[in-house]
Amino acid sequence: MKTIYLDHNATTPLRAEVLAAMTEIYENISGNPSSVHFLGRTARKRLEAGRERVAEAVGARPEEIVFTGGGTEADNLAVQGIAYAYRSKGDHIITSAIEHPAVLAACRFLEKEGFSVTYLPVSREGLVDPGELEEAIRPATILISVMTANNETGVIQPITEIGRIARDRKIPFHTDAIQGLGKIPLSVEEMGVDLMSLSGHKVYGPQGVGALYIRKGVRVRPLTYGGHHERGKRPGTENLAGIVGFGAACRLAVENLESESDRLRLLRDQLCSGISERIPRVKLNGAPGLRLPNTVNLSFEYVEGEGILLGLEEQGIAAATGSACTSGELAPSHVLSAMGVEAALAQGSVRFSLGRENTLEDILFTVDALVPVVKRLREMSPFFEPEPAESQGDKR
Ligand SMILES: Cc1ncc(COP(=O)(O)O)c(C=O)c1O
Repeated sequence: MKTIYLDHNATTPLRAEVLAAMTEIYENISGNPSSVHFLGRTARKRLEAGRERVAEAVGARPEEIVFTGGGTEADNLAVQGIAYAYRSKGDHIITSAIEHPAVLAACRFLEKEGFSVTYLPVSREGLVDPGELEEAIRPATILISVMTANNETGVIQPITEIGRIARDRKIPFHTDAIQGLGKIPLSVEEMGVDLMSLSGHKVYGPQGVGALYIRKGVRVRPLTYGGHHERGKRPGTENLAGIVGFGAACRLAVENLESESDRLRLLRDQLCSGISERIPRVKLNGAPGLRLPNTVNLSFEYVEGEGILLGLEEQGIAAATGSACTSGELAPSHVLSAMGVEAALAQGSVRFSLGRENTLEDILFTVDALVPVVKRLREMSPFFEPEPAESQGDKR
């Protein structure tokens, strides 16, 4: 059976070019980048080349990139690192209610440590209001953390506006841009951010490697202690092959960004129109015009998202409900709840996130598969009453 993968916001398949770059390291580079001998120096050169590529992808300077063990660690290093480094100046953090658990859980931990956190609400469309953010600023505010694009809905936040506010008020500004990388242009200067989290496996690079951009002059307390690696911000021998792979993936992602985004947007919109033409009572979650080109989150009335996933899986299609980290839990998505989506609709939500290998054929196949799955589930629902046109079956 053919597999159709529509869960690229959870992770992406490693690109052949990335695997080749990593294999070359495993086969030929044996030194520790911190060793002073020739083998160490060769490894160091490769590490720094990887750093340059990641920096280039977001318009940063290489020395402002700290490699981590993934996106979650980058988020924690930013949030906890700033909180402890600036604790003498204040104890208040502003974030949003729709952040990834990597930021939210770090904030909740900091609350237990005595910090105070404002979780900004979002509109029905999933957007943070910069005006509300500005009003939430206190003299004790030491960090603003708002994600670039949401992993569940794909909604893109007004980061440049928030960046301007943060700069005017001289407050360090972190953005989790993990879902934005390779899908929309990112520039730390234009966005006005001081810290930016990135992750390798969302851009067809390896899992378990990420990066935190830290603007020169911004202080961050490390999460762990050890040697002087990564300027002391992230001690431990670097994951050289992972970093080289991440660098290669970043370069490829940025090279093809515009054409690939246009292609994915078209496919995503074809998926949406195919669904809305053939399945009634489906609602889009998130601002229609302000979303990542590859993502759509839909709520199917009278059905459970999990049921849809199982039905699709029988036909080789992989999609998601909520984020990868929370699916499996019965609680409705915190993102959809924050947007005011009623619990029943949130439970009936499915996220389709498209990627490089997807074709129009995949999309048409998915719509064809979805129609009978939703129909069958609705027939089983005690609450569902078909409208006259629906009981006559599919309109096509
Ligand atoms: C927005 C966002 N932040 C953070 C993460 C965590 O990244 P990682 O899986 O590299 O730890 C993810 C991954 O799901 C994400 O989508």
